[in-house]
Amino acid sequence: MYTKVQETAKYIRKKVSDIPKYAIILGTGLGELVNAITDKREIEYSEIPNFPVSTVEGHSGKLIFGKLGEKSVVAMQGRFHYYEGYNMQEVTFPVRVFQLLGIEYLFVSNAAGGMNSSFEIGDIMLIEDHINLFPEHPLRGKNDDTLGTRFPDMSEAYNKELRCIAAQIAKENNIKLQYGVYVGTQGPTFETPAEYNYFRIIGGDAVGMSTVPEVIVANHAKMKVLAFSIITDLGVLGKIVEVTHTEVQEAAKIAQPKMAFLMQEVIKRID
Ligand code: HPA
Repeated sequence: MYTKVQETAKYIRKKVSDIPKYAIILGTGLGELVNAITDKREIEYSEIPNFPVSTVEGHSGKLIFGKLGEKSVVAMQGRFHYYEGYNMQEVTFPVRVFQLLGIEYLFVSNAAGGMNSSFEIGDIMLIEDHINLFPEHPLRGKNDDTLGTRFPDMSEAYNKELRCIAAQIAKENNIKLQYGVYVGTQGPTFETPAEYNYFRIIGGDAVGMSTVPEVIVANHAKMKVLAFSIITDLGVLGKIVEVTHTEVQEAAKIAQPKMAFLMQEVIKRID
């Protein structure tokens, strides 16, 4: 795998002169942040050697290098989901490429179902921690010590300092921010009422089908992670209604300017 990641990183270095410290993974319906990126240099996933190709509706599939304010960033428009059939090495491949490129900070967004009864559709949840319920682990197999340690610590998978900065920015700008634990499941089914209830009981506030694999690999790579969920539907007993992918995308679209603002401001405030 290392050779493949190296080859991909080398290809990107040849194409992009200004390699950033900040990477952003944009979730379902959350691609709009890229409109704020200037001096864009876009590379389609299909052009990048060894990169998987995104298939799901609502995910276009390119790496976008450019400036967010003064800072150089790279954004992934479209991510690879386990439910699409990729294995965990493929799902997390871009994060490994980021690691070899020298990325230090990873910002992640996703759409999620809210299980906390105080959440409303359209809320933004700052992910404080996660519960990994994927059936396969991205670090399973022989460990490559050049990429990270065999048994990575996960006591602060979502960097506390970044979380504090995000909370501060939300407060200063009157943005309602929820806080909680993200449960990562394989999908592609949304949850049954009993499953939402179960995820709530085990300590989850929101549930989704992404993020956890990328965050695990980013932690293995010693990157600092900040992640947000947009609550697109409710898995709260009594409030559960039929969910469709289109509704998830639409609810995400409504909240995304606020989330984009938060991410942008956090990036502005850190070096
Ligand atoms: N469950 C799982 N994934 C999701 C949900 C949900 O309710 N909403 C958006 N992504």
